[in-house]
Amino acid sequence: MCGIVGYSGSRQAVEVLIDALKRLEYRGYDSAGIAVCGKELQVHKDKGEIAGLEETLPMLKGTVGISHTRWATCGRPSKNNAHPFVDCRGKFALVHNGIIENHIALRKELQARGHKFTSETDTEVLVHLLEENFKGDTHEALLESLKKVKGTYAVAVIRLGSKEVVAARKENPLVIGLGVGENFVASDVTALLNYTNNVLYMMDGESAVITPGSVKLFNESGGRVEREPTLVSWTVEDAEKGGFDHFMLKEIFEGPSAIHNTLLGNLNEIVTGDSIIDSNFSSVKIIACGSSYHAAMVGKYLIETISSIPTTLEFASEYRYSSGAKEMPLVILVSQSGETADTLAAAREARRRGCQTLAITNVVGSTITREVDEVFYTHAGPEICVAATKTYITQLMALYVLGMRIGHSHGALSHDALRLLRSELRSMPQYVREVLENAAAIEEATDMIVNARDVFFIGRNINYPTVLEGALKLKEISYIHAEGYAAGELKHGPLALLNPDMPVVAVCIRDHTYEKMLANLTEVAARDSPVLAIGYDDDTELSSVANRVIGIPKVKPIFTPVLIAVTLQLLAYYTARRKGCPIDKPRNLAKSVTVE
Ligand code: G6P
Repeated sequence: MCGIVGYSGSRQAVEVLIDALKRLEYRGYDSAGIAVCGKELQVHKDKGEIAGLEETLPMLKGTVGISHTRWATCGRPSKNNAHPFVDCRGKFALVHNGIIENHIALRKELQARGHKFTSETDTEVLVHLLEENFKGDTHEALLESLKKVKGTYAVAVIRLGSKEVVAARKENPLVIGLGVGENFVASDVTALLNYTNNVLYMMDGESAVITPGSVKLFNESGGRVEREPTLVSWTVEDAEKGGFDHFMLKEIFEGPSAIHNTLLGNLNEIVTGDSIIDSNFSSVKIIACGSSYHAAMVGKYLIETISSIPTTLEFASEYRYSSGAKEMPLVILVSQSGETADTLAAAREARRRGCQTLAITNVVGSTITREVDEVFYTHAGPEICVAATKTYITQLMALYVLGMRIGHSHGALSHDALRLLRSELRSMPQYVREVLENAAAIEEATDMIVNARDVFFIGRNINYPTVLEGALKLKEISYIHAEGYAAGELKHGPLALLNPDMPVVAVCIRDHTYEKMLANLTEVAARDSPVLAIGYDDDTELSSVANRVIGIPKVKPIFTPVLIAVTLQLLAYYTARRKGCPIDKPRNLAKSVTVE
């Protein structure tokens, strides 16, 4: 995820481009850059946040320009990899948000034709394609260039000597702001509210040409599109969180696109890649902390189910001090930030023991990426709220992909079985969207827990980790004491605590543990604890053992941890909101724990 701004008007572009860009910093903040069209194309970019860029900004004179704040996906955060990119002759500057999947092949072709590259990014191919395809019209050249590209984009381009900003989008947002004698384009309306609230939302496949006095919108085949502008009622303050009350809610709602981005590219490589996953190992060990550890637990279930390869788990803080049996597993380290001190130390220890290591992380260029043999990026975009939400479900996605890959390369998963799993995985963004559409019912269900002092979460098998994560979410943001338990263990102690004041949240999916779960719920009901059950939305039996039921779409049991995690994230969020807690920054907690 990155942020883009474009401006064409009569003010000095630099002021608008920097001010508007700052409102998009939530979309990425590892590097930033700006290009302004004056007598020549002036470009200034650097690693780090926009404030740093501003401090070193030279005089950029001109009334047309583009700017970009980056969240690295391809190529580590660095000055060279920061946008905008300029072609070999210095005519075009371009910014991009998205992923170009076929960039390696395109880069080779362009290099063979003499183009010199200055970065490791996927984006740079676009500006060189533009240079090749330009025959006097930037818009036509951009459309021609985009035809060669596989992947997703929101892109904005300026050309030396022109007042045009040319933009196009596919699966990444762009909105045009309409002013008087000036027009704008940005990734998000939040960037524009200081200047206008009269906007045109661009649709997928559309492109636009913006000048100070005109805005032309085009469909995929280049035909003109007429659309009525929308008057946005948001204030600048509303807009910081994109209209959501908290970053947490915004990030939960970004789940479908985060999943989509994580799968993009990675899913196709299951059969074709060249990775340590295909090497000869007879066991896997997954190491992590916090929510990432819960994702790792789901990973254990699914790697063992899909590939039959024995998989063990360890907390990073424990692995470092363990004796280290003589086994040589493939070690997978899961860390959203890639900076957690214990996980970094575990990565070093695993390598010291001679194991092959693979990290699943969301942050390109983070420390862990330099400590391991191979990296799997989750591409969830920046997560601001301390409690992990979209990064958790994208870690699950990474583990599904890796599990399928291990299963396939170790001969446990046939092509047909792989095809079926892959097809369901591709539908996950839609299933998560359906869970989000049910948010009002989940909010209502908070009636059952908002006044409780303690809440139990129970589940079995692959959803045992899901209830641990649900309990963790509730305790960290609502300060209600919550415990996750394997449902079968309830009668070995916790049953003594159950009473009418202690609600139980139970995950009850129709899989091979279903009957046992129903029996557990009967035991709970016998102690008069109120039961909130989460099951398939076509399950009519659940209401006979639960006080309230929340339904999820009927996916294969193996994929339910994703949908239930989102349900429990919303449950925790709405509970904390009713209690007036500081949701995005819970007391005593930090997003990235860099002490041991
Ligand atoms: C902190 C965060 C958690 C996170 C854990 C591990 O405790 O508050 O949300 O799960 O660190 O972080 P990592 O970046 O390694 O996934």
